[in-house]
Amino acid sequence: MYRSHTCGELRISDIGKKVMLCGWVKKVRKLGGMTFVDLRDRYGVTQLVFNLETQSELFDTVDKLGREFVIQIEGNVAERASKNPNISTGDIEINASSITILNESKVPPFTIEDNTDGGEELRMKYRYLDIRREPIKKNLELRHKLAIETRKFLSEKSFLEVETPILIKSTPEGARDFVVPSRMNQGQFYALPQSPQSFKQLLMVAGIDRYFQIVKCFRDEDLRADRQPEFTQIDCEMSFVQQEDVLNIFEEMIKYLFKTEKNISLDFNFPRMPYEIAMRNYGSDKPDVRFDMKFNDITSIAKNRDFVVFNDSEIILAIVAKSCSEYSRKELDSLTEFVKKPQIGAKGLVYVKYNTDGTFKSSIDKFYTQEDFKTWADKCEAEPGDLMLILSGETAHTRKALCELRLEMGERLGLRNPEIFAPLWVVDFPLLEWDEETQRYYAMHHPFTSPKQEDLDLLISDPSKVRANAYDLVINGVELGGGSIRIHNKYLQNQLFRILGFTEEEAQKQFGFLMGAFEFGAPPHGGIAFGFDRLCAMFGGQESIREFIAFPKNNKGRDLMADSPSEISEAQLDELCLVIKLPK
Ligand code: AMO
Repeated sequence: MYRSHTCGELRISDIGKKVMLCGWVKKVRKLGGMTFVDLRDRYGVTQLVFNLETQSELFDTVDKLGREFVIQIEGNVAERASKNPNISTGDIEINASSITILNESKVPPFTIEDNTDGGEELRMKYRYLDIRREPIKKNLELRHKLAIETRKFLSEKSFLEVETPILIKSTPEGARDFVVPSRMNQGQFYALPQSPQSFKQLLMVAGIDRYFQIVKCFRDEDLRADRQPEFTQIDCEMSFVQQEDVLNIFEEMIKYLFKTEKNISLDFNFPRMPYEIAMRNYGSDKPDVRFDMKFNDITSIAKNRDFVVFNDSEIILAIVAKSCSEYSRKELDSLTEFVKKPQIGAKGLVYVKYNTDGTFKSSIDKFYTQEDFKTWADKCEAEPGDLMLILSGETAHTRKALCELRLEMGERLGLRNPEIFAPLWVVDFPLLEWDEETQRYYAMHHPFTSPKQEDLDLLISDPSKVRANAYDLVINGVELGGGSIRIHNKYLQNQLFRILGFTEEEAQKQFGFLMGAFEFGAPPHGGIAFGFDRLCAMFGGQESIREFIAFPKNNKGRDLMADSPSEISEAQLDELCLVIKLPK
């Protein structure tokens, strides 16, 4: 037996017990003849006391101790003179009577404390040391609990967890596939699943009726704080359901998770917002509705005067920052700099201060009268003391930039409180997106998403106007999940493939296995998938999903610890019949 207790276990009621503990040396403090050691394991920290005056035989070993040495001690539990209320074992300490060094440690490259001095690169390179830190360990515990509660909820609702393959056929889903060469089938490749989409639909044809899986998905796309090349979904599919059924059951699941994990009761129906409204009012299909600050379209009242920038614009949009009319030159300049950043891409920012005395002060005073500004203020429902911030240009571009500015203002004004959760279903997504470059339609969700019954006629007359039975769950501006009701009718599916520009042979080649299955009685079905890493990050109150993944990749898709991806040997390449051709 290595240990009788863990380092987080002993309490005042254990005083007098003889115990044996194992763990890592967090800290060593020498005070005269006494040496204090904080011993850490997964469960907590316990203070050890070595009285080297009375136990000189321990001196050599204790003297050698360094940070992160693995030790085993024996001793008696005693009450602490100066208690530490910050740790669960803070009332006691162990008077150690023996010590064994189980393993030495090099000096760690960063301090293993809650607030470490290690930068992210270093933490990722030595992730196993990073995980010893309390915040990361807590995140992994949260992840574990969320997975258990998810499984519990779904199992009770008769969902069956079924594993689906990782080596699959490449099928387009929006992002780029990661591919894996096949040795046994030379010149051919598997793809890693972007999601188990086809398989879960096949499971519906197979009569499984309610499927779920907490599953790894792989997408070769540009990475951000909330995007990893391999990430985890709570993937779900149901038979004989309509959109309403899917939304209801998964709204219940999200409420259940908030209640069990955070003791937060979301006792209301999650609001629903059509995509069109989300784009018009917030310039985003995932609006953060913790605060209002909607877009106001002032194109018709601000255009066609002497201001060329507005005259050349397709759209002129304003947001109102409440009680900000006193913003200084410096603050306004920093907002202008913000919108001009390349990733936001606005050319400039127009402001109109609605002063508390009822007058207006603007960066474009030269071109407009006080009455003009009053008309704009009325349209925007601005009041004296408010600040109007205006962007103009091409519609999609302006909306996107103003969406970023709105979020930035929300942040600056403290309106994005991480303790408040504002869930929202975004519904009625367009079925198709037109791509100027390739001059063709793409499925906005995926090619199996069903159009709304009432929009079927538009499939022929104006495909861009067709709305889909597709939905996203958005919380605090984060897209947590998305799904759709699928097409189960062969004729409709073929019609859609034609609109998407697939010839019959192409459709057959790419989706033949699914289409074939659909000939054997596909039930009406639909589903949803949640980003599990994003859910964990939201529950943990952080933006970066990396903090909730044991071994994540960096923004370049690299595993800094294992140093991958990496080259493979000539022999491996030969076996796979591969030749590397690097760009010059
Ligand atoms: P979708 O592509 O919307 O739908 O993905 C579902 C959810 O997965 C999360 N997500 C990601 N999380 C981290 N890193 C990524 N790279 C990443 N990409 C997506 C998001 C997203 O809402 N098969 C469909 C679902 C369905 O129709 O049932 C699908 O995968 O939170």
